Amino acid sequence: MSLLERYTQPAESQIPTVSHMGEIPSGQPTCTIWIDGKEVTAIPGEAILRAAQRAGFEVPTLCDDEKLAPAAACRMCLVEIEGYHRPMPSCHLPVEAGMKITQASDSLFKLRRQNLEYILSDHNAYCMPPCQVSCPTHIDIPGYLELMSKGQHVEAARLVKEVLPFPYMLGLVCPKPCQEVCRRGLVEEEIAICQCHGYTGELVMEMEQAPTPFPQLPATGKRVAVVGAGPAGMTAAYYAALKGHAVTVFDMMEKQGGIARYGIPEYRLPKVKLDKELN
Ligand code: SF4
Ligand code: FES
Repeated sequence: MSLLERYTQPAESQIPTVSHMGEIPSGQPTCTIWIDGKEVTAIPGEAILRAAQRAGFEVPTLCDDEKLAPAAACRMCLVEIEGYHRPMPSCHLPVEAGMKITQASDSLFKLRRQNLEYILSDHNAYCMPPCQVSCPTHIDIPGYLELMSKGQHVEAARLVKEVLPFPYMLGLVCPKPCQEVCRRGLVEEEIAICQCHGYTGELVMEMEQAPTPFPQLPATGKRVAVVGAGPAGMTAAYYAALKGHAVTVFDMMEKQGGIARYGIPEYRLPKVKLDKELN
C-alpha cells in the first residue's frame, strides 16, 4: 500500500473513536494505565497517544491525525512501555489495562530528535509546499493563491512582490517548475500557479499607484549604480529604491528589460505591458 493510500484510508481501525479532546462517555468500559507514574483512565484498545493526550501529556507527533488510520511513519510519538524491549509508537499501539508507560525521558528525547534529523536529512519538502521549494524565488505560493481566492488581488500582488517585483512578466515566460510538482496534480491537474501571479501582476499594473511589498523608506542620501537593466538588474534596482537609495541603472541597450525585451518575442511578452510593469 502506498503512503498516499495509507493516509487517505478512513480511520475505521481506530477503536474506539473518542477524541482526545472529549470526555469518555459514561458506560464506556475503561481501564487504568500509568503514564510517567500518573494514573490515567483509558479505553481499552484506543491508541495510547489518545489516552495520553486526554490526560494532558504533550507527546510530540508529526504523522498522527485523529481522522485517519495510524501510519506510524514519523516515530516522533515513541513511548517506553514496561515489558517491551524497544520504544513503541503511541499513535499506533492500543491501550491494555495496567500498562506502565513513560512518555518523557532523556533517551526518548534523544531518539525522537534522531528520528526528526533522519526525516529532515532526506525529505522532499514535506514540510514546505513543493511548489514554493521549486520556485527559484520561493514565492509564498499558497499565500497568494489564498488571497486571490478571496479576491484580495492587491494583497496577493504585495505578497508576490516581496520576492518577485515583476509577476506579470514571469507569469508569461517562466518555465513554471512550481506546477510540475503541484500536489493537486495527484488529484486532478496542477494549479495554474504561473498564470495566477501573471493575472495579479496585470491587474495591479493598471492601477495608478502600483502596490509595493514594503513601504517606501525615506531617502538615505546614498546612490546605487546597477549595471544591466535586465530582470535581475531591475529587481535589484526596485528593492534598492524601496530602501530609499537613489538608483541609476546602466545598460548598453536603449530600453530596460534585457533578455525579456530583446530575447523574448512580442507574441510571448507584449512590450507595451512590459513597459508598464517595469516603469
Ligand atoms: S511560475 Fe512563478 S511561482 Fe512558478 S516557478 Fe515561475 S516564478 Fe515561481
Ligand atoms: S505520530 Fe508519527 S509515528 Fe506516531
